[in-house]
Amino acid sequence: MKKIQLNLEFTHATYDELDSQHQALIDAAREANTRSYAPYSHFNVGAAILLDNGEVITGANQENVAYPSGTCAERSACFYAHAQFPDVRFKAIAIAARGTDGNEVADPIAPCGACRQALLEYETLAQSPVEVILVGNKNILIIPSVKDLLPLAFAHFE
Ligand code: THU
Repeated sequence: MKKIQLNLEFTHATYDELDSQHQALIDAAREANTRSYAPYSHFNVGAAILLDNGEVITGANQENVAYPSGTCAERSACFYAHAQFPDVRFKAIAIAARGTDGNEVADPIAPCGACRQALLEYETLAQSPVEVILVGNKNILIIPSVKDLLPLAFAHFE
């Protein structure tokens, strides 16, 4: 028997410390949350995915009167991205949220478990890490890959 430890190494940054490509993706996620449809939670989330071909695909949470029928920003973005560009890998995703007061959250939110699982599918398919950029108005966190956010993920082999 032995103990096994998993390490998560990630970057903390401010917006001004980042290069223009990261800043542009963050801007796109922030803009996307203005198009969120969240009449029930009033919590507006935007996601922006940078594809390997340079395209940026955005999504926003879409709620529904039958609550579980709605979906998160991350899944709306990744499903649309892969439906439009099935052969193009994702390079990075930025996620930016505004709270019920309408202001951007100070500390970033991280994707829910279902979104981690959905994003992992495309990262695994492309065999290439997808950087996850979590955006708050004070702190920005950059996680190197989706699998870092979902260790010991389910996988099955045919
Ligand atoms: N939500 C997202 O869009 N992304 C997340 O990472 C967490 C939560 C949405 C779902 C729901 O519309 C609202 O935020 C409140 O949970």
